[in-house]
Amino acid sequence: MAERYDLVLTGGRVVTPSGAVETDVAVRDGRIVGLGDFRTAAAAETLDCGGLTVLPGVIDSQVHFREPGLEHKEDLESGSRAAVLGGVTAVMEMPNTRPLTDSPETLADKLARARDRMWCDHAFFVGATPANADRLAELERLPGAAGVKIFMGSSTGDLLVADDGTLARVLASGHRRVSVHAEDEPRLVERRALVADGASVESHPDWRDRESAIRATKRLIATARATGRPVHVLHITTAEELELLAEARDIATVEVTPQHLTLAAPDCYRALGTHAQMNPPIRGAADRAALWDAIASGLVDVLGSDHAPHTAEEKARPYPDSPSGMPGVQTLVPLLLDRVNAGWLTLERLVDLTAAGQQRLFGITGKGRIVRGYDADFTIVDLSAEREITQDWLASKSGWSPFTGMRVKGWPIATVVRGHIVMRDGALTSSQARGRPIRFDATADPAA
Ligand code: DOR
Repeated sequence: MAERYDLVLTGGRVVTPSGAVETDVAVRDGRIVGLGDFRTAAAAETLDCGGLTVLPGVIDSQVHFREPGLEHKEDLESGSRAAVLGGVTAVMEMPNTRPLTDSPETLADKLARARDRMWCDHAFFVGATPANADRLAELERLPGAAGVKIFMGSSTGDLLVADDGTLARVLASGHRRVSVHAEDEPRLVERRALVADGASVESHPDWRDRESAIRATKRLIATARATGRPVHVLHITTAEELELLAEARDIATVEVTPQHLTLAAPDCYRALGTHAQMNPPIRGAADRAALWDAIASGLVDVLGSDHAPHTAEEKARPYPDSPSGMPGVQTLVPLLLDRVNAGWLTLERLVDLTAAGQQRLFGITGKGRIVRGYDADFTIVDLSAEREITQDWLASKSGWSPFTGMRVKGWPIATVVRGHIVMRDGALTSSQARGRPIRFDATADPAA
C-alpha cells in the first residue's frame, strides 16, 4: 500500500544542510519523513511552494512576551501570534515578567499559560537572582526551560546579578549555556546622573555607554573561564566587544539583533525618539558596520529579536522615564530577507543565524534543520515579494514598530509548526493554537 502523509510541500526551493535544492518535503506525525519527488504521493494536505523558498523554521532565541503581570504590553497569545505572522516557528522567552520566572512554580505557570494559547513552540528562560543562584542547576533542567538568563545591568524589571561574586555563584551552578545581558551595573549607576529630567533620548547611549557594555563583557568572559561555564552574550553593540569575543570562542557565543543591524545613532533617535530607546542602546554607524562585518565573518552565532514591547503611551513618557525596548519578533524575517536580497548575507548564513545556530548553541532536540526525523517546522518565504511594513499587519499589543513605513524585498508567506500550517498569506489558518514546549537535549522531554 502506498504511504500516506499528513502534509507535502511541493515544488519549493528547500534550504537543506547540503544547500538549496528543488525538492518536495513529506511530513507525517509532525516530523519530516522524506525529501524527494512526492508529487503523486497521497497526502491529507499539499502546499504548493512553487516560486517559494522553504527555510528551516526560524527560532527567535530572545523575546519578552510579558505574561504574567504585564499583559497590557503583550501576552503569550498575542506575542506568539506576532511570531507566526512574521514566519517564526519557535521562541525562547525571557524571565523579567511579574512575578519573575525564577522558580519551578513560576516556570510551570508559564508553561501552563502557554498551553493551547501559544501559536508557536516555546521555552522559557529562568532568571538568575542572588536568592536562587545555588538552585539553578536544578532549575535549568526542568522541562520547558530554555536555560538561565542573567542581567548584569538593570533593565526592564527587577532581575540583577551586579557583582562578580554572585556572577561566579550563578555560573558555577549548572551546565547549560547561560544567556547574559552584559551591561556593567556599577558604571550604569555612576553615570545615571547624565540623564537627569529633561535630558534628550539622544543621550541614552552616553548614559549606557560603550564602556558599560565592554566592561561587563570583559568581566563575563573572565568569570565564565574561571568557572568553566559556557555563556551566550546577548545583543552585542560595540566593535570592541566583538574583538573580545573573537578571542573567547572557547567559552562564549554571540547574538546580535536586527535593530542594532538596521538603526544607527544619532539618526534613529531624531527620527523615532524614545521608540529607538533600548538596552543596550542603538549606537553609531561605525558599530553597526562592525556588527555586519561580524555577520559576514561568522563571528555572530545567532540573531534574536529582543522583542520587548511597551505601549505607545508608555513610550510617550518623557525620557528617561520612558521604558527601554522595542517590538521585533514579527519583523525579524522580513528585515533579514531584505538584506539577503541586497547581498549582505547569504540565505545559508541566515538559516544558520536563525535556526541551525540556535539548535547548536542551546542543544535543541530535533529542530533547526530540514532533515529527515526533525520536526516539520518551516518558514516559507517569497524572496521576490516587495512589501511595506505597515501598522495594520502588526499583531503585538504594543501596536507599533520602529520599522513601519519601511519597504522590504522578501516576505514570509507561510509558517508551518510541526506539520501544521499555522500562517498562510498573512493570516492564521485555524482558531486552535497548538504550540508546544521545545525539547532540549539537557532536559527531560516536556512532551512525554
Ligand atoms: O531594552 C530592553 N528592554 N532591554 C532589555 O534588556 C529588557 C527589555 C525589556 O524587557 O523591556
